[in-house]
Amino acid sequence: MSALVADVLVSLPVFMTPRLIAAMNMPTSPDLVWHHATVTRARREAQNGHRGAIVWFTGLSGSGKSTLAHAVEEYLHQRGCRTLVLDGDNVRHGLCEDLGFSAKDRTENIRRIGEVAKLFLDAGIIVLTGFISPYREDRRRVRGMVHRSDFIEIYCDAPIEVCETRDVKGLYRKARAGEIPEFTGISSPYQIPESPELTVHTGTETLGDCVHQVVVDLVRRGICSLPADRAFLPTIEYEA
Ligand code: ADX
Repeated sequence: MSALVADVLVSLPVFMTPRLIAAMNMPTSPDLVWHHATVTRARREAQNGHRGAIVWFTGLSGSGKSTLAHAVEEYLHQRGCRTLVLDGDNVRHGLCEDLGFSAKDRTENIRRIGEVAKLFLDAGIIVLTGFISPYREDRRRVRGMVHRSDFIEIYCDAPIEVCETRDVKGLYRKARAGEIPEFTGISSPYQIPESPELTVHTGTETLGDCVHQVVVDLVRRGICSLPADRAFLPTIEYEA
């Protein structure tokens, strides 16, 4: 180790601000000790009969992330899987109620969701998240928090024209009228995933087809072992 590197390491505690420490995912106090559970993730998964996973849906507002996440959850739940959907609008009513839509706030939003998702992953649950999560770096950071087989990024690929036509919440209209600043896809960027585990074409394919593709993918990855039969697939569609 060079003298310079040694010097930097020795002086670390002196210049590390609480913010820097948080960014490195280290506790701010040195007096915190991790307590290991005796009921481990492996034991929980054995009891559940399937693996835990973070199934991360990303895409524009109105691309169908939440609809798809809930439809997949319904499918899995009916077959005895333990699941939880974390949804952007819902989480912003509680855990993230203090956050807006600046780049900094979105990054913090995704960091918190990542931490929550990780807790549920440790409980052996299949966590399905529906957040725009527009920045690659934020998604990459969450991916890096867990084992690579635990994070399944699913890009809900729907052209903005389709999302805007759907405009289920009337937000695109408001954003075009300048009433919502920093609106994703209009006045704030969305960075398309470069190598997601799966891309579903939520703008053109039916909800049933998309659910089927996700379930087949989960089975193929060994998360759960279900017949991806179509009998229980939803008959509803993405809202037009
Ligand atoms: S993220 O960018 O931080 O991942 P998140 O998924 O939590 O966003 O929240 C997105 C939801 O908030 C959208 O589906 C929409 O209903 C609502 N929303 C309100 N303002 C904005 C905005 N400026 N940009 C995008 N979505 C917004």
